Amino acid sequence: MRAVDVIIKKRDKLALSREEIDFFVQGFTRGEIPDYQVAAWAMAVLLNGMSDQETTDLTLSMAYSGEVLDLSGTVDIVVDKHSTGGVGDKTTLVVEPAVAACGLKVGKMSGRGLGFSGGTLDKMESIPGYRTDLSTAEFMSQLKSIGLVLTGQSADLAPADGKLYALRDVTGTVPSKPLIASSIMSKKIAGGAQVIVLDVKVGSGAFMETLQDARELARLMVAIGRLSERKVIALLSDMNQPLGEAVGNALEVREAVETLHGGGPADFREHCLVVGSHLLVAGRKAKDLNQARVMLEKALAEGQAWEKFRQLVIAQGGDVSFVDDVEKLPRAPVIQTLPADRSGWLSQVNARTIGEVSVTLGAGREKKGDPIDHSVGIMVHRKVGEYVEQGEPLFTIHARSVEEAEAAAERLSGALQWSKTPVAPLPLFYGVME
Ligand code: URA
Repeated sequence: MRAVDVIIKKRDKLALSREEIDFFVQGFTRGEIPDYQVAAWAMAVLLNGMSDQETTDLTLSMAYSGEVLDLSGTVDIVVDKHSTGGVGDKTTLVVEPAVAACGLKVGKMSGRGLGFSGGTLDKMESIPGYRTDLSTAEFMSQLKSIGLVLTGQSADLAPADGKLYALRDVTGTVPSKPLIASSIMSKKIAGGAQVIVLDVKVGSGAFMETLQDARELARLMVAIGRLSERKVIALLSDMNQPLGEAVGNALEVREAVETLHGGGPADFREHCLVVGSHLLVAGRKAKDLNQARVMLEKALAEGQAWEKFRQLVIAQGGDVSFVDDVEKLPRAPVIQTLPADRSGWLSQVNARTIGEVSVTLGAGREKKGDPIDHSVGIMVHRKVGEYVEQGEPLFTIHARSVEEAEAAAERLSGALQWSKTPVAPLPLFYGVME
């Protein structure tokens, strides 16, 4: 077999066989197929697409390009969750401890921020000492002892995806649905997941900006699940405006801690309860979503979810005094509030603009490997559909300097659209696919 023939076949809109996909993926992983051929192939996939079967074959080939975890001796049923990425999405920090407190063991390998969207590892690293580089042996042992792990992806897991993703990033081939779906699903399968709850974000602050695109991505991942004998539940959730109020790493940890104490912004808390309920039902800890919600509400109200989070921080080497007293978390030197310059109803609070401003403030990376500043970010005080009086606070900007805060304020004003007549609030979810 020759790599060029596989590229030509995809260029000519023909379906690739499992053997051809395997040859290409394993050859690329071993360094035998050069980047330029893989880039040409990725562009052919972007332009001509892939069938569900081809996408599943690609997923499995990438999943088995490295180590595949076997957690069967450690947990009854391996349930994992994945969010396709958004702004202010700190769901994992609350949902994983909450479901673990309800008896569902969860070990999660998370990622870093990508473009304007935040990443769980960056958020957790706001806590001094917190390790995100656990070995497989440490992962297994912690999952057994406290039933909760939140770490980074080991280099041995789905290495083909790591290599392909880096190439896609610089060849304009990220937004291909078969490539996105196989990238996400290969990592989940390599992590040993039998049931996967996907939070597919849709809107200005998501990779899928329209409901139609998000539905197609969700459908594809559910199909990969069916064809690879894993159960996939995909929730479609709104990402036109940030989730909760906090955007930025330490600010998001604070908000997660508030939520774990039973408080937190109403939209974020509700989002966590819905995602967590699906996890508990999928993991057979609750018979239905209603029962799951009652269990989660109790775990949040009575402190068990918070206690699990503390155990997690301690187990992974974090200084727990920073979450016991969130005032100790990194704090930016300049904190400025941006008041409303008019009265009216908010018809847009653009998540992408807010995410981009947050990256510019230093909360994310402009390019791979850039350091990030855990202290900076934005508190978003108002949501679409709310009436705001002139002078009321819209945003609080946490910045490294007055100049940066002022530049952020200017751009943030452009994230808003106003209406003189009432506007309906945005829904939190658009549906579920199984
Ligand atoms: N997240 C992933 O893991 N892969 C993609 O391709 C896009 C988002």
